[in-house]
Amino acid sequence: SYNVQDYLRSHIRTVPNWPAPGVQFRDITPLLQNPKVFRVLIDAFVHRYMDPHLRPDVVAGLDARGFIVGSVLAYELNVGFVPVRKKGKLPFTTVEETYELEYGSATVELHTDAVKQGDRVLLVGDLIATGGTMLAGKRLLEKLGATVMEGAAIVDLPELGGSQRLRDSGLALFTLVDFA
Ligand code: PRP
Ligand code: HPA
Repeated sequence: SYNVQDYLRSHIRTVPNWPAPGVQFRDITPLLQNPKVFRVLIDAFVHRYMDPHLRPDVVAGLDARGFIVGSVLAYELNVGFVPVRKKGKLPFTTVEETYELEYGSATVELHTDAVKQGDRVLLVGDLIATGGTMLAGKRLLEKLGATVMEGAAIVDLPELGGSQRLRDSGLALFTLVDFA
């Protein structure tokens, strides 16, 4: 029988040894390219977040692939969209958060007026690996007094431990496809 998770999984491409030897890169571009699949993907998120208990005040998207799902979802929910961006891209005053990568570190920023104290925010990415990006986004939103009600992503790579780490930090998560 038809299962949304399996249907979406079958449209994610695995690219071996990219961007580095030994990495199996889960490529979501085929999901977006096929209009029927793209609609199933977006509708899975819309269905969940239209529920009055889960409908956010704002959708925040993680640079860059989180913008693709996050902006369409915000539009469908009739709420605003705010970007969490890699450092140096946002023109107005920002808050920033630095986190560790496998080699080195990364910094993300958010405009200080992106959310208001007490806003209930849905934080959207494309994929959770170590969880570092989503955790940094959560901290930025919390610095401005918002509540991150949930983190959402298309793909979870549970073996990398990120989703567990995020849940341990108190963040509820909703993901559509796991790759072990
Ligand atoms: C990738 C991916 C997630 C993040 C996941 O983004 O899109 O945002 O890494 O990894 P993490 O859970 O270990 O933080 P990337 O920085 O490659 O940027 P892009 O979306 O701009 O390609
Ligand atoms: N796919 C896409 N983005 C990623 C991956 C992956 O496998 N790992 C870390 N970021």
